[in-house]
Amino acid sequence: MTRLVTVDPDRPDPARLEAPAAALRAGRLVAFPTETVYGLGAHARDAQAVGALFAAKGRPATNPLIVHVPDGAALGGLVASVTPLAAALADRWWPGPLTLVLDAAPSVPAVTTGGLSTVAVRAPDHPVAEALLRQAGVPVAAPSANTSGRPSPTRAEHVHADLAAAVDWIVDGGACRVGVESTVVDARGEVPLVLREGAVTREDLGVTGQAAADAQAQRHSPGARFRHYAPACRVEIAPPGEGPARAGGLAAAGHRVGLVARAAPPAGVTEVGTFGDARDLAVGLYDALRRAERAELEVLVVEGVPEEGVGRAVMDRLRRAAQA
Ligand code: TXA
Ligand code: MG
Repeated sequence: MTRLVTVDPDRPDPARLEAPAAALRAGRLVAFPTETVYGLGAHARDAQAVGALFAAKGRPATNPLIVHVPDGAALGGLVASVTPLAAALADRWWPGPLTLVLDAAPSVPAVTTGGLSTVAVRAPDHPVAEALLRQAGVPVAAPSANTSGRPSPTRAEHVHADLAAAVDWIVDGGACRVGVESTVVDARGEVPLVLREGAVTREDLGVTGQAAADAQAQRHSPGARFRHYAPACRVEIAPPGEGPARAGGLAAAGHRVGLVARAAPPAGVTEVGTFGDARDLAVGLYDALRRAERAELEVLVVEGVPEEGVGRAVMDRLRRAAQA
């Protein structure tokens, strides 16, 4: 049975996190908020717990997990060596939405790393995640807390909708403030190689001009291979400014259409959301995908954003959601 505990997102009461923290230590599954999306946590050193986590999500065994730690001090115990680049990145960006891929320590179970020799680690920037990780006292493997292939959860009710039967605790800390996942970088070399675009931007990292090197690194990285972020309705991407016209055309052709755009929709189109800039769209995108499917729309038209800053991560997620 799933138990739900609601906590103050800014000042969580440690007493309310005691049972979920103990459950993590005991090898149970606990969903919790981070600044990006909700994670589904399991004790990263407990192979059986991590096995149960893969089963709960229906996640392919070859897609490795991110191990969550409260701060940079916990990194050393999980990796074979902290490279100078990793130390500098952790120092600058942790806690925060940057995940570092490094050579794994032998003590990290193969099920956690998807059988790879590397492990992904991050320290989330969310008071609830940090408090829970400290109280649990163990490293916590946590993919996004959605059924594999579905939009990531940015609210506790999204977790409940996908995974209620499979998790022991859902810690409700309100809506996530970033809305797209962490940036995943390979930090084994001299420069960070971007394996997944995310909330820490290429501009932030000073790596806007190395698409070829990143593409090469991504070929050896598992994450990009799997289907992602897809709601039950079709998603179409319209160029900036053209959302209302595209949605209006589809509605005129007899479709049940919703719109996420800068401007309000024309008659006959359901307003699913409006946004100002890419950061706004990031915050609301996954919730919009889920609301579109609950409204039983046939098509959701989402207006695109420029491919710069966090817009790169947003467009990456949108393109995957739109893949038929
Ligand atoms: O913001 C986030 O990163 C969220 C929150 C919960 O922290 N987590 C998340 O986890 O998005 P998940 O499992 O949905 O995505 C993890 C990504 C996948 O693309 C996976 O393939 C990649 O990280 N990854 C994990 N370990 C890796 C490794 N050793 N080498 C390369 N990629 C790895
Ligand atoms: Mg995910």
